[in-house]
Amino acid sequence: MGLSLSDGPSKMQQLMRYFDHNATTGLDPQVLEAMLPFLQTHWANPSSAYQFARPVKRALAEARAQVAGLLQAQPEEILFTGCGTESINTALNLAAQLGPDRRHLVLSEVEHDANRRYAQYLERQGWEVTWLGVDAQGLLRAEQVREVLRPDTAMVSIMWANNETGVLFPMQAIAEVCQQQGVLLHTDAVQAAGKVEIDLRLVPADLLSLSAHKMHAPKGVGALFVRQGTPFDSYLLGGGQEGGRRAGTQNIPGIVAMGCAAQLAQSRLLQTGCIRELRDHLELGLRKQIEGMLINGHPTQRLPNTSNMAFEGIEGEALLLQLDRVGVAASSGSACSTGSLEPSHVLRAMGLSARQALSSIRLSLGHVTTREDIDYLLEHLPSLVARLRGQTPFKPESKSIASHGPLT
Ligand SMILES: Cc1ncc(COP(=O)(O)O)c(C=O)c1O
Repeated sequence: MGLSLSDGPSKMQQLMRYFDHNATTGLDPQVLEAMLPFLQTHWANPSSAYQFARPVKRALAEARAQVAGLLQAQPEEILFTGCGTESINTALNLAAQLGPDRRHLVLSEVEHDANRRYAQYLERQGWEVTWLGVDAQGLLRAEQVREVLRPDTAMVSIMWANNETGVLFPMQAIAEVCQQQGVLLHTDAVQAAGKVEIDLRLVPADLLSLSAHKMHAPKGVGALFVRQGTPFDSYLLGGGQEGGRRAGTQNIPGIVAMGCAAQLAQSRLLQTGCIRELRDHLELGLRKQIEGMLINGHPTQRLPNTSNMAFEGIEGEALLLQLDRVGVAASSGSACSTGSLEPSHVLRAMGLSARQALSSIRLSLGHVTTREDIDYLLEHLPSLVARLRGQTPFKPESKSIASHGPLT
């Protein structure tokens, strides 16, 4: 099946089986409808005083309340940013401003580059970073955090859900440890939001990052939750927008879209059971047909939409190419590192060999994924794997490669 840009978006969408919802999501028609007036009619600057700006100001306030609603937070605790990466960098920049007595950070080894790279930058400035490892199923325990906290720890920054494997960290327990020790906690909830419930009344995190384009809103807008009373230092300096906490005229259409998407995501949380059923059906179906297949990540402590799988004896990139030829869009992990020949740092941290990590692909579903999409994959993926294995001599390495137990 060949697709080209001249086919236009509708044909592209009809023909494509999209299994990359952790990379980005399509714009929801309701979200588009909500944002259009703010591109066409209500384009005033929300900081302006005249009445023409009032609907824009109102929409900004409503979006803030909608995003806060998704987290069970207060609207004043939400800052809009330019993306998830900016939210995360802002949080770490805050740690960097706490003073010379606090120059220690705690991160997990499996964080997204938005978090990792900033921490590595601070390491080069003389900071100490403790990188917490994960177990073979990608899990981390709150006790591991407690064990490494020190009087000079400025911040713990640990993701809620992993973008590559979907593994969920015990965020409530981690937040309680940080709260007890008086250390700031930032969590990257870019992948968790809208897929699992987030209740910041129960989870005492101080800062939390979100990104709109993972929730069927457009790219280029994010949010940062800053709990009331948390010391804060603006990352972008300039005008007094966002209560002086993030300079720059707000991207109103994007923010309105994010608000609408957050509300929709909240209402769709109940549907995640159906997504999980489809995902589990897919995993079970593939495992029945394919020998030497491993699901990377904990069987249950995992986002309902994410499946990361290793196929012994093949290269994940080659499989993705073959999938693309039959119209299936998937990826090998973080969209930011697609095309990289480096094995995933997440899978390596879980103890996979470089070869196993390079034989892995990620399939991530959304509420728009259908049973037909799953059946299509079940029909094509096993034969593609078999064909690729035919090209290289294949002998299953060990039984243990598929030993995570039945997926029910
Ligand atoms: C876990 C995680 N954190 C952060 C980001 C970065 O978000 P954005 O693309 O909005 O900068 C991503 C995007 O892939 C992600 O998956």
